[in-house]
Amino acid sequence: MTEPLRLGIAGLGTVGAGVVKIVRQKAALLAERTGRPVTISAVAARNRDKDRGVPLGDYAWEDDAVALATRDDVDVFVELMGGSDGPAKAATEAALAAGKDVVTANKAMLAHHGQALAQLAEANGAVLRFEAAVAGGIPVIKALTEGLAGNDITRVMGVMNGTCNYILTRMESAGLTYDQAFAEADKLGYLEADPELDVGGIDAGHKLSLLAAIAFGTQVAFESVELEGIGKVSIDDIRQAADMGYKVKLLGVCRMTGRGLEQRMAPCLVPATSPLGQLDGGTNMVVIEGDQVGQIVMRGAGAGEGPTASAVMGDVMDIARGTRLSTFGQPASSLKPATAAQVATPAPYYLRMCLVDKPGALAKVATALGDAGISINRMRQYDHTDDAAPVLIVTHKTTRAALDVALVAMAATGVVAREPVALRIERV
Ligand SMILES: NC(=O)c1ccc[n+]([C@@H]2O[C@H](COP(=O)([O-])OP(=O)(O)OC[C@H]3O[C@@H](n4cnc5c(N)ncnc54)[C@H](OP(=O)(O)O)[C@@H]3O)[C@@H](O)[C@H]2O)c1
Repeated sequence: MTEPLRLGIAGLGTVGAGVVKIVRQKAALLAERTGRPVTISAVAARNRDKDRGVPLGDYAWEDDAVALATRDDVDVFVELMGGSDGPAKAATEAALAAGKDVVTANKAMLAHHGQALAQLAEANGAVLRFEAAVAGGIPVIKALTEGLAGNDITRVMGVMNGTCNYILTRMESAGLTYDQAFAEADKLGYLEADPELDVGGIDAGHKLSLLAAIAFGTQVAFESVELEGIGKVSIDDIRQAADMGYKVKLLGVCRMTGRGLEQRMAPCLVPATSPLGQLDGGTNMVVIEGDQVGQIVMRGAGAGEGPTASAVMGDVMDIARGTRLSTFGQPASSLKPATAAQVATPAPYYLRMCLVDKPGALAKVATALGDAGISINRMRQYDHTDDAAPVLIVTHKTTRAALDVALVAMAATGVVAREPVALRIERV
């Protein structure tokens, strides 16, 4: 096959410019590896006059991404604009309807419309690939859909938002408060235009829902991801968790249980000595467990021009070689609707609370836990601060529902000075 594979790239920001650079600078390597040239026919962005750090004069310019997506000289539409709806979705739909293959880095669009887009691709004999949408440069989609395809996947976990991991790591290593670490991340340009997408766990939740669809053969169900951001994690939690041998991470976990699909993106405690516990700064890590392979740990850059463009190019190269995989690793029509598990798999919990300085306060807390069927594994009391005594409890395995019953009962005793913090401890 020597016909060139002709790309149309919509979006020339961080990722788009990175893709243009790879296509220009590695033309010979790409052609050698696929047996055909990979070229760019046309590009689109909002501002034609902006300097993108790469020459664009060889390519046709389109102001309208839909027009770009349906050009006769475009074989693959590369969508790098972002946004769950709007031009990204309209242009992707137009390309697929015209039978053109699509490569995208857009997790928001796929988390909300992945099933419909995968069906549209198949109905038109096109492929839709999205390696760059999850964990940046880590080829986790390929690992799940290809290398691990012979496994029953039992659990997928990941730290998949570098900004949150950066904030939590800076709180721990530099003793910064959440607000200070957030301000630092903001200054470094790490936060999305809407920071809640990062610190609220939404961006990482999008990614988790895509991994769950592939891992468990279910339709993407972002709406049932249990989401909790890192905004309530305090420096006290980080210090006291460390004291007990744990690190706090914004961890995504998905697993299929007899009760349905569990998908959770929330701050968790993981052992400090585990690979996830040792993951510092803006790096991402994805852990996949399969019945045959056991545990696989993949670590790497989760964002940035080079790593994300690298992942986009992996998909482009597959298409150039004639590899045509289903979007979620199996025909879209065979993906089952995901039934969300109403009760999460039991786990130990970390509880931090401040008790009023009165005799019997601790006994009342222990009774509230015991009445909810929760037993205490470890407990530590710290020196009094003003009129309250910080207390740390690690429970044996329990459910969040049982814990919530205990927390309500504790509040009613009047011995808890401030709202307690409860964090799940994930076995990793
Ligand atoms: N940045 C990363 O590290 C990273 C990592 C993984 C995934 N992603 C995903 O990759 C995608 C792109 O991210 P990015 O960081 O490269 O974004 P970005 O730097 O903000 O670039 C977005 C590009 O899209 C163009 N654009 C926006 N609306 C458009 C429209 N209506 N028509 C034509 N072009 C339009 C913009 O044009 P102008 O430049 O003219 O404004 C810009 O070139 C997103 O889906 C993002 O979630 C990014």
